[in-house]
Amino acid sequence: MPDLDDLLDVFGTYFVHERFPRPIADGVQWIGGCSALFMDKERQDLVHSALNTYLITGTEKTLLVDTAHPGLWDTYLPALEKALGGRRLDYVMPTHPEIPHGGSLSMLYDAHPEVKVVGDVRDYFLYHPSVPDSAYQAMAPGSTLDLGGREFEFVDSVFRDLPNTIWGFDHGSRVLFPADGFAFFHWHREDTCGFTAEESGIEPSTEMYSVMTAIVSGIGHLDVESRIQRFMDLLERFAPSMLAPAHGTVVADIPVALNYLTALRNDSRAGISK
Ligand SMILES: [Fe+2]
Ligand SMILES: [Fe+2]
Repeated sequence: MPDLDDLLDVFGTYFVHERFPRPIADGVQWIGGCSALFMDKERQDLVHSALNTYLITGTEKTLLVDTAHPGLWDTYLPALEKALGGRRLDYVMPTHPEIPHGGSLSMLYDAHPEVKVVGDVRDYFLYHPSVPDSAYQAMAPGSTLDLGGREFEFVDSVFRDLPNTIWGFDHGSRVLFPADGFAFFHWHREDTCGFTAEESGIEPSTEMYSVMTAIVSGIGHLDVESRIQRFMDLLERFAPSMLAPAHGTVVADIPVALNYLTALRNDSRAGISK
C-alpha cells in the first residue's frame, strides 16, 4: 500500500487514465476521467467519481456526449484527439451545463471550431460567451442526427438535476447515455478506474447507487414511480445494450443497473418522511 502522500500526489487531482480512449461498442469510444473526492484515512484509499464522455463515430459524422470536466482538460484533449484519429469533431451534446458536463465547452470550441453544439442549448451562451451563436443547433427530444450508418437520438431526460438535461441514444450500438442517472462512486484501485462494471467485477448495488441519488433534483418531492415507469418504457422502446452514464461506469448488465431504480425509490421515501 503506497502512503497517503503518494496517493494524493498521483490521484488527488483530476486525470484521464492512459487506458482511455476505450472502445465499448462498435463505433463508441469511452473517454473518462476521474476526480478524487474523499479520502478515508483509515483505509488510506480514495473515493473517485468518474467523469465520463463518449465519442460516437459514424461513417460521415462524429458526436461527443459531454465536454469533459475542465479539470481534466490537459489530459483529456490528447485522449479525444486519439479517439478522433484525425476525423473532425462534428457535434458535441453537453448533457447539461454543469461543470463536469458542459464546463469545457469554450476550450472544446477553441480546439474544434467546426463543432456544432447540439441538444437543449438554451443557456450555454451565458457560461461560454466566446462560443458564437452560430455554433448552436437546438435539437428537441425525439429528434435524430444521421451520423452515417447510425442515428443518434436526443432523449428527454428521466432522472436529472437541471431542467435542460438531455439524454441520448445511439441506434447503431444501442448504447443509452443517461447523464447523471445511474451514478455511483468507486474506490480507487488500478483495476477499477476506467473499466466497465463487468470488467472490474462490480455489480452496482442499491447501496452504491443510493449515495448519488441525491443529485436527482427534488427527489423527495418527485413522483418517482411515474419517473420509473417512464424509464421502463424507455427500456422497452430502446432495448439498450448498455448504459453509459457520466458518473459511475459503463454497465452492460441492464437488470443489475435496475438497482438504481430501487435506490431512487428508497431514497425518495426517506426524503418524504424527513
Ligand atoms: Fe448534474
Ligand atoms: Fe453530474
